[in-house]
Amino acid sequence: MNDKPILRYNANERSNHWLVAILFILAGLSGLALFHPALFWLSHLFGGGPWTRILHPFLGLAMFVFFLGLVVRFWRANFISGNDRLWLRRIDRVMRNEEQGVPSIGKYNPGQKLLFWTLLLCMLVLLFSGVVIWRAWFSQYFGIGSIRLATLLHALAAFVLVLSVIVHIYAGIWIKGSASAMLHGRVSRAWAKKHHELWYREVTREDPPDSQISKKG
Ligand code: HEM
Repeated sequence: MNDKPILRYNANERSNHWLVAILFILAGLSGLALFHPALFWLSHLFGGGPWTRILHPFLGLAMFVFFLGLVVRFWRANFISGNDRLWLRRIDRVMRNEEQGVPSIGKYNPGQKLLFWTLLLCMLVLLFSGVVIWRAWFSQYFGIGSIRLATLLHALAAFVLVLSVIVHIYAGIWIKGSASAMLHGRVSRAWAKKHHELWYREVTREDPPDSQISKKG
């Protein structure tokens, strides 16, 4: 049997992903420094208060631009399919690690897909609300009511984004082999078959034992 590992992420995809992760941490820490006086000490990491205020929007903008790189690369693989809906209805079996009655899935499982769209929504809200509250360049074009609403939405979207990334990291650690896919690019055939069977069949061109199984993940 062929036991050559399968390529899951090429070098460009991995660099893009880790750049977004680094920018997320920098934008997050500088944002927290501005969020509450109790966290203002974090501004020392960025050269003090004024520098934090100058840098935070640019870090956020860079995170958004590079995140779009991930969206362009992965959006197709994140469409929700019929198999995914059934997988979600049987989430109790998935949580109990049962395989009976749980449909095969493609490159990403429905949990990852929902997380992907949540990340995109948060990024869009952060971008648009961030422009409105960017005093140096754009705030003068908006009324105080819009600026207040945008401030609230900005904090809410950041909160949901941070929670989502925590879930994302937890899932990456929980599913052994995932983190290594994003670090080294390749996964074992056994991993691909166990966690993403339809994707495994697609990349290895192996026919499913049951031809009734949908080929779209
Ligand atoms: C900082 C720590 C992070 C870790 C440890 C991490 C880990 C991972 C891992 C292991 C995968 C591969 C999952 C698989 O192939 O099944 C992945 C994929 C991905 N990550 Fe991250 N990640 C981090 C941060 C982020 C951030 C900040 C974002 C964006 C806000 C992000 C967005 C993505 C996307 C879009 C994918 C592709 C999965 C999909 O399209 O559904 N990651 N990450």
